[in-house]
Amino acid sequence: WKLPHQVDIKHPDIVEIAKRLRQGEIIAFPTETVYGLGANALDAKAVAKIFVAKGRPSDNPLIVHIATMEQLALLVEEIDENSRKLIEHFWPGPLTIIFKKKEMVSELVTAGLNTVAVRMPNHPIALTIIEAANLPIAAPSANRSGKPSPTTAEHVFNDLNGKIDGIVDGGPTGVGVESTVIDLTGDVPMVLRPGGVTIEELQEVLGEVKLDPAIVGQKEQPRSPGMKYRHYAPTGEMWIVKGDDREIIKKINSLIKEKSLIGKKVGILTTNDHRESFQEADLILAYGTKDNLYPLAEHLYEALRIFDLNGIDYILAEAVEEKGIGLAIMNRLKKAAGEKFIQI
Ligand code: TXA
Ligand code: MG
Repeated sequence: WKLPHQVDIKHPDIVEIAKRLRQGEIIAFPTETVYGLGANALDAKAVAKIFVAKGRPSDNPLIVHIATMEQLALLVEEIDENSRKLIEHFWPGPLTIIFKKKEMVSELVTAGLNTVAVRMPNHPIALTIIEAANLPIAAPSANRSGKPSPTTAEHVFNDLNGKIDGIVDGGPTGVGVESTVIDLTGDVPMVLRPGGVTIEELQEVLGEVKLDPAIVGQKEQPRSPGMKYRHYAPTGEMWIVKGDDREIIKKINSLIKEKSLIGKKVGILTTNDHRESFQEADLILAYGTKDNLYPLAEHLYEALRIFDLNGIDYILAEAVEEKGIGLAIMNRLKKAAGEKFIQI
């Protein structure tokens, strides 16, 4: 289905989609971050279909999406002071909060954990569908497990056609990387997955906020089960290049020459600051600038898919500074590159 961005809850398609979700179908829809693959969170059979369609490991829990605070009360034991502050500042928006779950939330959704991840997405189509279905909707990103998350309906179609019951096309998503996942159940609030809401924004509201040590490279088991999988991987071999600006340009250009000589198709992912610097690459994708990395986040997953579609077999991505939205970008780049760095 293709829907206008502003939708009426009585829109005939919305009524139909809501009805189908209530009947246990699994349907992809846009959110402000990436497309989600939705199912009735209270229907274990429907939720099970999500894991099959995505090829998702069953120990990786799902985020439950809500449209109203009444729906939150259905799912969680209590809403503490810090959660209230976050909800007030960031919902609807790209922030997922971990709560102690109520009994009725299926073990399948939470992968056996006693907590549940919840968010209220900031997208008119997502909100209207959830409200019309009058259900909490479990929705992981609507990609095959291991592929980059989808930021257009076409990406969803390419990954999941024939495996799901429908796709709602709301055009490209805006944020481009997934929501930030935060856990408030410990002593200090801890970010388990960097995403659309930055740590700096969270610190402004909460004071001290920690980043799960597993995210910054210390080798512990991450507390968010999904973060342990290699993710977002393009087919081509990918490296992140990090170091002094001028040296980076030289190094990348010499690598382009070297790899081209042995017949590799070379792709570069960078910002517009360096767009003109790598003329001999087979494909240069540049988004945003060092001072505004949001367009790079918006187009990151699309870029990884474009490299694949063009048969690029050697990808060099320029590192960005790990602050603001740059932290989420680097986190996804590291996963896509299998943590491979060229340090200059
Ligand atoms: O932006 C998003 O969050 C998108 C859109 C569709 O809303 N959804 C998304 O879902 O990225 P998914 O399933 O691809 O990622 C969910 C992440 C995983 O890393 C998972 O392990 C973590 O959230 N998670 C879910 N429940 C959790 C829990 N109870 N405790 C810790 N981590 C949890
Ligand atoms: Mg995902």
